[in-house]
Amino acid sequence: MLVSFKEILDIAEKGEFAIPAFNVYNMETVMGVIKAAEEMRAPIILQNYSRLFTNGEGYYCAPIIIAAAEKATVPVCFHLDHGASEVEVMRAVRSGATGIMIDKSTLSLEENVAETKRIADLCNAIGIKIEGELGHIGAASNGDEASTDYTTVEDAVKYVEETGVAALAIMVGTAHGRYKKAPKLAIDRIAEIHKAVDAALVLHGGSGVPDEEIKAAIKAGIRKINFGTDLCYAFLDKVFESSRENVGIDLFMKDAVASVKDFAIEKIKLLGADNKVE
Ligand code: 13P
Repeated sequence: MLVSFKEILDIAEKGEFAIPAFNVYNMETVMGVIKAAEEMRAPIILQNYSRLFTNGEGYYCAPIIIAAAEKATVPVCFHLDHGASEVEVMRAVRSGATGIMIDKSTLSLEENVAETKRIADLCNAIGIKIEGELGHIGAASNGDEASTDYTTVEDAVKYVEETGVAALAIMVGTAHGRYKKAPKLAIDRIAEIHKAVDAALVLHGGSGVPDEEIKAAIKAGIRKINFGTDLCYAFLDKVFESSRENVGIDLFMKDAVASVKDFAIEKIKLLGADNKVE
């Protein structure tokens, strides 16, 4: 069933585990993740990067996500990831997104608060809760993984109170993409922020984070973890291996869908999201 961002975050908060949020791009990646969620009886988030709503591809991908979510017998939220501007937010909402992220993390604290609050007010007015980002989570390929410029408790308290976000992505040692060296997370900082703010904490850059770090982060209060890069590799590695004899594209894609499903099952179990739905 298609559910709101708030509903899915409440399930995680109540159960003290993290919802896996998978970045999807096409019908096959959606199918792989949904099959895993159904089999594992797990609530999940399917999300599209903002660029799909910049380049217009979200217009085609969104109906696939919504059809899959509505047919599913587990709760599924359709979320905009790293919303870049009001335009992408509007397009995602019009396409049926039930959760929105606005990412103004490269701005100063004051500007980030002002911009995020503006979008939060708009979305809250139509019943959609939002995720913001405080402390920029960069790209591992830029060497940002080494950053120790962690989100502070003081800034997080101010940001959540003044913006009204329901979820907060924090910088605690992760980066997007493939790490050169396995990251070590600031677990104490997660626990301190979790205690101080009334918002679900989000960990971006889940690909390549060691299992023990993920488990410790959830114990400290992380309630949503994003996986993008490793889902792409799960899909693409199989596509490159698939036989060119399979000219029917549905047949050609079967192994890639199965590989995404296996990847999603592994992460659902790691996050403790399995068997959370009847
Ligand atoms: P990875 O690609 O590193 O898994 O990060 C995904 C993400 O955080 C999407 O916002």
